[in-house]
Amino acid sequence: MKVRKAVIPVAGLGTRFLPASKAIPKEMLTIVDRPTIQYIVEEVVASGIEVIIFITSEGKSAIENHFDYDFELDTLLRQKNKLDLCEEVCHISNLIDIISVRQKKPLGLGHAIWSARNVVGNEPFLVLLGDDLVLSDNLPCSQQMLNLFEEVQESIVAIQQVTPEEASQYGIVEGEKLREGVYQVKRMVEKPPPGTTDSDLAIIGRYILQPEIFDILGKTTPGHGGEIQLTDALQALAKRRSMYAYQFEGTRFDAGDKLGYLKAIVAFALRHPSLGDDFAGHLKKVCASL
Ligand code: UTP
Repeated sequence: MKVRKAVIPVAGLGTRFLPASKAIPKEMLTIVDRPTIQYIVEEVVASGIEVIIFITSEGKSAIENHFDYDFELDTLLRQKNKLDLCEEVCHISNLIDIISVRQKKPLGLGHAIWSARNVVGNEPFLVLLGDDLVLSDNLPCSQQMLNLFEEVQESIVAIQQVTPEEASQYGIVEGEKLREGVYQVKRMVEKPPPGTTDSDLAIIGRYILQPEIFDILGKTTPGHGGEIQLTDALQALAKRRSMYAYQFEGTRFDAGDKLGYLKAIVAFALRHPSLGDDFAGHLKKVCASL
C-alpha cells in the first residue's frame, strides 16, 4: 500500500499561545518569512503526498485562505510588476490539493483525526500536527517515515528522546529496539506521571496510521484532560497489529509553545538563504553581550 494522503489537524484552541492566538490561528504565526503551517505543507509536498486534509474549526479560515488562489492580490502584484512576489504567492496555492473538514468541537487530537475518516477511506495515511516543525539536513521527516513504511507496511509513530522530567508532557512509547532508530511498540501511555515509566521515547507530531485507527477512535472514550486521546487509540491499535516507533533524523520544534516557537525562529533564521549569515552575526553580538 502507498501512502497518498496527509491529515493535518489545526482545530485546537491554542491556549498555550494566548493572547497571540486569540484572533490568529497559532499555525499562522510567522517563522522568519512564512507561517508555521506552510513549512508543514512544504514537508508533505517534498515527501510526495498527493492530497492534504486539514481538520479545521471556526476561526481557522486564515489557514485555508493562505493556500487558496487570491485573484485580487495576483492582479495587483502583476499591475505593479512585482512578478517575483506574484510567482511566490501563486506557488503557495499550487503546492497541492487541499481538502478541509470541520471538527465540530475541540474534543481532542484523537477526535480531530477521526473527523477525517470519510475523506481518508480505507488506506494508510500520514498525520502531521499543525504546530510541530522538524528541521532535517537530508530527507524531510515524513519522507524518512514513508521509506520505513515501504518496508514494514504497518503504523509508525515518530519519536525523540526526552529527559525523565520531560516525559510526563508527552505520549511515551515503551518498545523493543529492532535496529538503530527503529523500535517495535509494546506499550504507549499519554503523559505518564513522573516515575511511572522507564522509557525516554516521546511521540512527536508525525504518524503513519493504518485506517483501522478510525474504528478504534470511534470507540475511544475521553482520557487524559477529558479529551479523546490519539495515544489511547494507538495503544489499542498496537495490541491488534504491529506498530513501529521511528527515531527520525532532524530537530523537532513545538511551535505551539512560546519557547518552542522562539527556538524554531532562531533555527530556521540561521538556515535562511539570504538572512542566515547576517542573523548569525547579530546573534553572536547578542550572546557576547549577555
Ligand atoms: P495541542 O496539544 O497543541 O492542543 O494539539 P491545542 O488545543 O492546539 O493547543 P493548546 O494545548 O491549547 O495550547 C496538537 C495538534 O492537534 C490539533 C491542534 O490544532 C494541534 O495541531 N488539535 C488538538 C485539534 O485539531 N483538535 C483538538 O481538539 C485538539
